[in-house]
This record gives sequence, structure tokens and C-alpha cells, in this order.
Amino acid sequence: MPALTSQPTRAGSRVLGTGSYRPEQIVTNDEVAALIDSSDEWIRERSGIIERRRCAPGESLTDMAVAAGAKAIADSGISADRISMVLVATVTHPFQTPAAAPEVAFRLGALNAAAIDLGAACAGFCYSLGMADSMIRAGSTEYVLVVGVEKFTDFVSPTDRGTAFIFGDGAGAAIVGPSDHAGISPTIWGADGEQKDLITMSQSWSEFRLEPHDNFPHVVMSGQQVFRWAVSDVPKIATRTLEAAGISANDLTAFIPHQANMRITDAVVRALKLPEHVIIGRDIETTGNTSAASVPLALDRLRQSDNLPSGGLALLIGFGAGLVYASQVIELP
Ligand code: UT7
Repeated sequence: MPALTSQPTRAGSRVLGTGSYRPEQIVTNDEVAALIDSSDEWIRERSGIIERRRCAPGESLTDMAVAAGAKAIADSGISADRISMVLVATVTHPFQTPAAAPEVAFRLGALNAAAIDLGAACAGFCYSLGMADSMIRAGSTEYVLVVGVEKFTDFVSPTDRGTAFIFGDGAGAAIVGPSDHAGISPTIWGADGEQKDLITMSQSWSEFRLEPHDNFPHVVMSGQQVFRWAVSDVPKIATRTLEAAGISANDLTAFIPHQANMRITDAVVRALKLPEHVIIGRDIETTGNTSAASVPLALDRLRQSDNLPSGGLALLIGFGAGLVYASQVIELP
């Protein structure tokens, strides 16, 4: 039997560029609170959110993904035809099939790319980054476009008191490519399906189909339980990531956690005892929780507003529905 050939492997991968897209329409806390017996004060205090963005009528999830992806491509300096994989992390693409990724690849001119969606909720971007790193090192892809995108407007009930004020629309993206050293650390990831009901849908599409009604299936969340899980487990996961990367908190330039709740971010920062010089992603104030888009949106904003130094190290962590989590340290582009 002849031996099969395999792709040559590579030493490492790194993020080469980032981009983001926020819809123009701003939705204030007062607008959301009017439908859920809440207030601007309560929402700010309990979540840290001041406003979030919403898509214009007719603006789609793939429109946002293309806008963010185009900026990441431009930032990386890699032409679209060199991209060999497009990974779109999302849980709010409104079509069961086809996936969003083939359309996103086509509209961006990434005509030589394989393209798939990845459903890992608020950990979706970090899961995708881990997969991009593995695929590039294994030699199966060269340049990967990773997009985190969500249009929660389509899947949140404006009258659900536990979620209406939290979620927003947006997209963030990164180009990942080969590197002669590790620009992305080992990804620490995992899942706990026993807790699948903590963030879920109000009912399945099959149930809705049998008995159609006005309250379209929407996201529901046991907020307090998710909050307790996040505050207790995220610091432990982040610590394992730093260990796997072979660095300490002191080596970090930035910490960019999933933007779930400002109180969760504060608690994790305290638990990790992050030194003063570490810049913290606090994008939730003006963006809300955009699930798979939240880490790349915060990363791109910090790169623009705080001029994060190229070569600095950022700790990323995503966590959410599943329950699932994924985390890695990246070298900043
Ligand atoms: O992205 C995926 C991961 N997601 C997360 O990590 C989210 C984690 N959870 C959270 O961020 C928080 O649990 C929420 C922001 C969702 C809620 O905050 P909380 O401090 O956990 O509120 P709670 O559910 O414990 O409710 C506290 C009080 C209750 O009143 P009483 O019983 O103390 O009188 C609720 O009835 O706040 C009341 N309440 C509200 N009041 C005004 C609950 N929701 C609202 C609301 N507006 N929207």
C-alpha cells in the first residue's frame, strides 16, 4: 500500500488583523425598560449596560458579518482570495440552512475558501480562534477569516424581563494566518451539557410549528445561576489558560472577556488579581451583550481607542449557553 501524503505542519499562527461593525441605531435603557417594568438605573446598576445597537429594518446578520470581515481583511493586508477558511460563529442566523459562512465568503470575494458556521454561543469567537489556530498549524488551511456575529433583535422578546435589556446586535472579525512562533496559545475549552437549560429557547421550532402563536421562540435565561457559574468558574478557566500559555497575569497587556455583565467582568478581574497596567475590555456599556461578537468587538475597539501595542499579549475568554467556554492568549496584531 502506498503511504498517503499529509499536509506539512507549521510552528504557529497569529491574528493578523481585526475589524468590527456596529449597527447605527442606538437603543437606550429607557426604551427597553418601558416594555419590561424596569428602569435605566436598574439596568445600569445590575448589568453595566447604558445602550445597545440594533439593526435597521432590512439589515441582516450576513450584512454585519460582511462589513466586519471586510475591515479585518483590510487591516490584515491579506487579499480575500488567499483566505482558505471562513468560520462564522453565531447562534442567531435566521436560516436553518444554508449556513451564513458561504454567503459571507462569497460576498467578501473569498472564493477559494471552505466556509462553515459554528454554534458555541458567547464562546463562539474563542472556539473559532482555537480551531483556526489548530487548522493552520496542522497545515489544512493557511489564512482563516473568523467572524463572531449576532442579530439578537430576531431572537429576543422585547417583553422578556430577564433578557430584553441585555442583548444587542453587532459583528467582530479577525484574520488568522501562519506564524514562525506561537501567536495564539493553547485554547482551554470545554462544555457542561448538564446545564443546557440555563440559557435556552422558550420552545423548539417543532413545538412552535405544532401550535403556532404570537410569542415567537426566543432566548430565555436563568440569569442568577449563569451569573454564579461565571463568577466562580471563569477565573479558574482564565488561570488555566495563563498556565497553558506559560505566562503570568503580569505579562498581559489586555484582558478581554465576553461582555456578559460588567459585574461579572469586575469580579473576574478581582479574582485574577490583574495588575493595574492590564487594560480591561468594557465594551458592554455601549454595546450590550452580543454573544459571539462581544470579544472581537471589544478587541477591535480597544485596538482603536487604546492603541494596544502590536506584539502585546491579550487574554480572551468566552462563556455562555451550553454551557460552553473557550479561552486563549493572543499576540496582538
Ligand atoms: O452571555 C451569556 C452569559 N450570560 C450571563 O453571564 C448573564 C448572567 N446574569 C446576569 O447578568 C444577571 O443575572 C442579570 C443582569 C440577568 C440579572 O441581574 P440579577 O442581579 O441576577 O437580578 P435577579 O434576577 O437576581 O433579580 C434581582 C431583583 C428581583 O427583585 P426582588 O425579588 O429582589 O424584589 C427581580 O425581580 O431584580 C428584579 N428584576 C428586575 N428589575 C428591574 C429582575 N429583572 C429585572 C429587570 N428590571 N429587568
